[in-house]
This record gives sequence, structure tokens and C-alpha cells, in this order.
Amino acid sequence: EAADKGEYRHFMLKEIHEQPKVVQRTLEGRLGDGQVMVEAFGPQAAELFAKVKNIQIVACGTSFHAGMIARYWLEELAGIPCQVEVASEFRYRKVMVQPDSLFVTISQSGETADTLAALRNARNMGYLASLAICNVAISSLVRESDLTLLTLAGPEIGVASTKAFTTQLVALMLLTLALGQVRGSLAVDKERQLVEELRRLPARLGEALAVNAAIEQLAEYFADKNNTLFLGRGAQYPVAMEGALKLKEISYIHAEAYPAGELKHGPLALVDSDMPVVTVAPSNELVEKLKSNLQEVRARGGELIVFADGRAGIENGEGTRLVNMPHIIDALAPILYTIPLQLLSYHVAVFKGTDVDQPRNLAKSVTVE
Ligand code: G6P
Repeated sequence: EAADKGEYRHFMLKEIHEQPKVVQRTLEGRLGDGQVMVEAFGPQAAELFAKVKNIQIVACGTSFHAGMIARYWLEELAGIPCQVEVASEFRYRKVMVQPDSLFVTISQSGETADTLAALRNARNMGYLASLAICNVAISSLVRESDLTLLTLAGPEIGVASTKAFTTQLVALMLLTLALGQVRGSLAVDKERQLVEELRRLPARLGEALAVNAAIEQLAEYFADKNNTLFLGRGAQYPVAMEGALKLKEISYIHAEAYPAGELKHGPLALVDSDMPVVTVAPSNELVEKLKSNLQEVRARGGELIVFADGRAGIENGEGTRLVNMPHIIDALAPILYTIPLQLLSYHVAVFKGTDVDQPRNLAKSVTVE
């Protein structure tokens, strides 16, 4: 087992560092000249995608967070209405299915009981077709879905999902571009630009991994904290949710994610110097609003840990620990900003001495309800 970890102390750290490579692999053979190759989703995909007017995404855990990010992409870039729900809720409630809806499941294992049950229910609910985004080719989810797009992350051993998540995001971006292309709802130039940026993504992820040393130094600061708040806006809100989940899972520190604009509707009451507020703040059209949210935290003595690029205009200083990130096109920022949050939870867990790869009470794949 130790040999499989190579030079790394834990599988999780190894898997975090594999991300440039597995993202590259997930893109391979799926990008053409300035466009996504729709056939990657199967021979009947083009005909089917042309009919899609709605998307229903269902998943659990980290895979659910990937779906939450995809909703921003599908609506903004491809102009398709999208709902996202955890499988354990979806499977037990009466759902009103929109006409011409594609049912999309996301799963690392392809064996999660609730996700599979939701897919089985969906079969009789009038969906156009089902698509599985899955990391295991020989899995129940793939077998039982009409279309499949495999993430090619390779085996993921650490219970806390890392490389499966970023490859799911890549797959969901490919889905967004394919739907936008076929339905004519995404401009040709915009698709070309995003395809070029996707080609550069593995290298950008490599640059993001260079923040490792800076994050390791932050770990000690978190070790005696009992509560943390994660903030983001737009598609960075689910990135914050995923960051909070990672910290909970492996360091056992209570972590809650909030859309930054909701701060004043509750969590601000909790802010004090004992509760670090972690923020993902890439420069984009929401960053000024986010900065005023951060001011509200500072005004109450809160301590900020901010991940931002140089253009965001956030400075290191009293009460603000800034970790500098490379700049990236806004659409792909959720993928890039996931990396420092993975590293943060990893180093905090190592500092606390918890079992990083096998956190207490959790399973890699939840195959029973
Ligand atoms: C468990 C794992 C998580 C995973 C979730 C969904 O909770 O610990 O890492 O995100 O199941 O699993 P799936 O295989 O369906 O993505």
C-alpha cells in the first residue's frame, strides 16, 4: 500500500497532485478544433441534445457540489434551465418533471444507493434520457444509463473526494459546451475561447498546486478552532460548500458554507476572532460585493483567510491572510479554486493528526441506504 502512495504521505495528497494529469486525460479526445466533440457522449448524443430544454441533476456528497457548480454554467453559458438535488431527497418526493428534460447523475463510484435509486425512479417519470457522469466504467450507474461520460480520474482511494470532483467539473463543462453547441445557444467564438482555456487548464492546475507551502503554514492556525465559515458568491458558493465539506470530513472541525450575500441574515452573529472565515474571491464582476461582505466580517473582529488573484485587489494585512492564486478565466475559476481548499483541509487534518485517508464514520462509497 505504501508503494502506491509513491512519494506522498497520504493517498489524498497524492490524488490532489494527480489533478493536472487526470484533468488532461479527461479532456483527451474530447476537444476538436475550437469545439467539444459531441460524439464523446455517445453516437446518439447530438440528436438527443438538440431536444433538451431542461436539465435535472441528481447526486450525493461531493458529486452534488459538482452539480451545483454545473447549474451556474448550464444556465449562464448554454442557456438551459437546470435543477440540482441530492439523491436522497429527490428519490422520495413527488417531482414535477419539466418537458424535454435530461436526467443527469454524477457519481465517482457509480454505486451510491440513493443516486441509483433516483435513476431507477426517473426511468418511469418521463425524462428524455439519462446521462451518467461517472468515474467507474463497470458500475451499475453506467450500465443503467442511456448515455455516459466517464471521468478518467483513475482509482480514488482517499475517502474525501478530490480528483474525482475536479474531473467531474471538467466533464460538466464539456456537457455545457456540447449542449450550447448543438442547441445553438452558445456563441461559436465563446465555445472556441472556452475550449482553448480548457486545453490550458492542466497547466493552470499545476500552478495552483504551487500554493501548497503557503497553505501548509496556515494549518496550525486552524488546529485549535472549532468552527469555520466558508464564503463565496456565484459559482464560487458551491466551491465554498465543497471546501467546508472537505474540512468537516477529515479534520472534524465544524465548517459551514454560506453565499456571502446571506451573511447578514444569520452567520454574522457567530463571527468573532475564534471563527476563521475562509473566502474564495477570484476577480470577477461580484468581487466588489464580496469585498464589502468581507468588510462586515472584519468590522466584527473576524479573521479572514482569502484566496484571490492579484486583480481582485485584496491585500494581506491585519486580520486578513491572503493566499495569491493565478488568474484564470471566470468560467473555469471554480475548478482552480477547489485546489487550495483541498490542500487546506489536508494540512489541517495532518496537523491535527487525524486519519486523513480513512476519516471516522465515513465510507468511500455508500452502497446501502
Ligand atoms: C460518500 C463519499 C464522498 C462522495 C459521496 C458520493 O459520502 O465519502 O466522497 O462524494 O459518497 O459518492 P459517489 O461515488 O456517488 O460520487
